[in-house]
Amino acid sequence: MSQQNLESLDVEAIREEFPILEREFDGQQVVYLDNAATTQTPDPVVDAMSDYYRESNANVHRGIHHLSQEASVAYEEAHDRVADFIGAAGREEIVFTKNTTESENLIAYSWGLNELGPGDEVVLTEMEHHASLVTWQQIAKRTGANVEYIRVDETGRLDMDHARDLIGDDTALVSAVHVSNTLGTVNPVGELTALAHEHGALSFIDGAQAVPNRPVDVSEIDADFYAFSGHKMAGPTGIGVLYGKQSLLEELEPYLYGGGMIRKVTFEDSTWGELPWKFEPGTPPIAEAVGLHAAIDWLEDLGMERVQAHEEELAAYAYDQLAAEGDVEIYGPEGGADRGGLVSFNLEGVHAHDLTSILNDHTVAVRAGDHCTQPLHDKLGVPASTRASFYVYNTREEIDKLIDALDDARALFA
Ligand SMILES: Cc1ncc(COP(=O)(O)O)c(C=O)c1O
Repeated sequence: MSQQNLESLDVEAIREEFPILEREFDGQQVVYLDNAATTQTPDPVVDAMSDYYRESNANVHRGIHHLSQEASVAYEEAHDRVADFIGAAGREEIVFTKNTTESENLIAYSWGLNELGPGDEVVLTEMEHHASLVTWQQIAKRTGANVEYIRVDETGRLDMDHARDLIGDDTALVSAVHVSNTLGTVNPVGELTALAHEHGALSFIDGAQAVPNRPVDVSEIDADFYAFSGHKMAGPTGIGVLYGKQSLLEELEPYLYGGGMIRKVTFEDSTWGELPWKFEPGTPPIAEAVGLHAAIDWLEDLGMERVQAHEEELAAYAYDQLAAEGDVEIYGPEGGADRGGLVSFNLEGVHAHDLTSILNDHTVAVRAGDHCTQPLHDKLGVPASTRASFYVYNTREEIDKLIDALDDARALFA
């Protein structure tokens, strides 16, 4: 991407909507590069939630009174907004959960526990987040199914020949991360889904690091299920999304039971209500849905292509700056169209936790650890890495601050 694209987002104006970015620690302004963990929330999103609590707060499910009607409409419209944003057919295909992890578990329990059996295969990738990897491992244990992993090659990309070998007639599900939260790799999820379908399997795509950062159209990917979290896309914590094709969701058993999801209950049995409410028992995250709606409006005002261009530019810049240091090992593909907006790395001779702590002394906020991809780190041969991840308010100057701080780490440890 060109510098022109980067400048097409008015980053200065964007930053004004994030008072938190003005915070200082020890007289230094925070440099927030931990966006893959959670993004910051702009004023219009905070305002939308605050207005909701000030003016419309009530429980949903269409109570008779005005406030409940208003809250219900806001909650339902949030589903419509999400559906429109990701190219789903309608609100029936959008289930609100707590986060991506719960969306994964919903399908694992509703579909996996009921449909998998001995001899069935669940095909994951070696770069799956624990949200998917741990969940399917446990479901496989309980059902007798096997879990297989598509190899990650030395460039940090999926070995698609291996994928073609692995995905076969025993495959019941292919579950893949759209953008790796450790390697930054953008995976060919449409191709993986097509492979799954060729063999009569379903596809589940973990879009936690994709939907916040690039245009995503689930109908183009043809994914059967797709998951993401509000708090990684300028929205609030406490809300996640499970997209599912309506025909599949209609067939699935609910994963949680309770009020608000039923059609008829007798002392003997119960039947389920319409989609998506069938999967949303109890009082749902109403204010959070309002916030997610506002976050999508806000992101679409920026333009998702420009958001993507901005992140690709920053990731490429960070990659090049880190690579030029000579003593930094970077994981995942070089900057470009198949890298999302994050870079994980290690500085020679310095543990990722120590480096991250030194960066924190410079108020540069990054993350150290295995980023919930322990098996991938084992494969990389390191216990941990440091991850810098970018969003629409980040600048090249902030990356320069990170690079400058590396000298302190060298002086102390190398
Ligand atoms: C790729 C990926 N999948 C799943 C998750 C889990 O998201 P959440 O913690 O919102 O459930 C994350 C969060 O870091 C992620 O990066």
